[in-house]
Amino acid sequence: MAEKIQLCKVSDVDVGDMLRVDIDGVPPIAVYNIDGEIYATSNICTHATAFLTNGYLEDDLVECPVHGGTFNVRTGEAVDFPCEIDLKTYAVSVEDGNVMAVVE
Ligand code: FES
Repeated sequence: MAEKIQLCKVSDVDVGDMLRVDIDGVPPIAVYNIDGEIYATSNICTHATAFLTNGYLEDDLVECPVHGGTFNVRTGEAVDFPCEIDLKTYAVSVEDGNVMAVVE
């Protein structure tokens, strides 16, 4: 069942940076701060198995650390080979300085 949960605090993610969020019972999530806007996606690369937060964030593209594929973190779109399957994205809201998202 979908549930709204706190992923982190806004202050946990610097502008231009990303944060690995591990919560019991919830798939691994990456939170990004792009020019002050907060986004969240699955943290697992859809090409194989890698944590995207171990990769590189440049503007709104996250590069996987394993084979260098990229995703747009705003839309989840797979942008560069070998990534072809889009990332799951989460709609986030900021409430009292907390990053909230509906997860299943
Ligand atoms: Fe991410 Fe291959 S595991 S690009």
